[in-house]
Amino acid sequence: MQVDTAIIGAGAAGMMCAAHAGGKVLLIDHAKAPGEKIRISGGGRCNFTNMYCDPGSFLSGNPHFVKSALARYTQWDFVELVDQHGIKWHEKTLGQLFCDVSAKEIIAMLRALMQKAGVDLRLQSHATDIRKTDSGFALTLHGPDGDTSVTANNLVIATGGKSIPKMGATGFAYDVAAAFGLPVAETRAGLVPFTFTDARFAPISGTAVPARVSAGGTSFDEALLFTHRGLSGPAVLQASSYWQDGAPITVNLDPKTALFDALRDQRQNYGRRNFTTELSAHLPSRLVEHLGALHDLTGNLADWSDARLMALCDALQNWQMVPSGTEGYRTAEVTLGGVDTDALSSKSMMAKTVPGLYFIGEAVDVTGWLGGYNFQWAWSSAMAAARAL
Ligand code: FDA
Repeated sequence: MQVDTAIIGAGAAGMMCAAHAGGKVLLIDHAKAPGEKIRISGGGRCNFTNMYCDPGSFLSGNPHFVKSALARYTQWDFVELVDQHGIKWHEKTLGQLFCDVSAKEIIAMLRALMQKAGVDLRLQSHATDIRKTDSGFALTLHGPDGDTSVTANNLVIATGGKSIPKMGATGFAYDVAAAFGLPVAETRAGLVPFTFTDARFAPISGTAVPARVSAGGTSFDEALLFTHRGLSGPAVLQASSYWQDGAPITVNLDPKTALFDALRDQRQNYGRRNFTTELSAHLPSRLVEHLGALHDLTGNLADWSDARLMALCDALQNWQMVPSGTEGYRTAEVTLGGVDTDALSSKSMMAKTVPGLYFIGEAVDVTGWLGGYNFQWAWSSAMAAARAL
């Protein structure tokens, strides 16, 4: 079989690229259905982009790399596409745009676009023996109907990262990159809960609090969730992408309040009340109860000196802890690292040293924040490649 473009990986990036590449396109995926991560994303409603998408919300070895692709296919371009297909959406919070009805609508839209473009989608299929030829690439396609030799002018790798191996995630893109002599930035799990081997938060698991979580010099103000195994919630997932093994994280349990001043004011009016009762005006009572095991919270508020109040407020608003690790690729939403951006053109995603070979989506060393940024990278990088094919 001879095609203009062979794309491996029918996820968000692969389908978007296939739909817009033009020419004869073969799209290969080993899964039973395309876009499985789209289907489960955003609690089944797919947070498909973010209104505030900009390069500052992405991690990469080269923070400038994302600029061109994001500028040439923006969040508003994707919103326009979604609107054209009659998909209703809403902003949930912080610019995060979700489908009103179902993530399946995004998959259906991409499938419709691919069908219109005549894309040959091969599911439950994989490729081996990938090699460069004089005119492009050759590979062997293994599918339900047997093996087929394929030649293609261009080869696009869109197989994503290692997150959630149960859903078919593989390190395939990194292997292809390495086979063609391209560098791969070390990979690790991102947007992932922290674990503590002593299960210290098990007694308050399920308790959530609006918090500021900081790691590696970057802070996020969102919800923090205590779990049986450690910490989760959006603020924690975000911070995890900036965390290095063995480093401390800092938690501010009440970032919106000048807690010391507030408790001092309360002391004037309600000094005869229990300290824990007054602290519960700021934090969930289950959490206050738990904090009582870590700090001396006894006495009436009037008994608390400024110095004692100050020390406790510092402990609650500047709480340092060292996670034992993360939940890893098993539950991580994304993979940090990937095909080194130095090896790719930021305009087209083509490998600088291998004409015709492209890497798009999560396979590349570009990782977005939580909130629709990763899908926007998939759409933008896919369009960058599609326009160059
Ligand atoms: P993606 O992983 O989507 O696709 C890769 C495809 O390649 C898959 O279809 C896979 O089967 C196939 N493949 C892999 N190896 C192969 C091989 N060797 N041979 C053939 N095929 C192979 N992001 C966001 O912006 N908003 C959100 O709401 C969410 N929610 C979310 C929830 C959960 C639970 C997860 C795990 C992730 C998210 N994300 C997200 C992240 C988002 O899903 C992710 O960044 C994109 O799906 C990446 O798109 P890609 O197309 O690059 O990879």
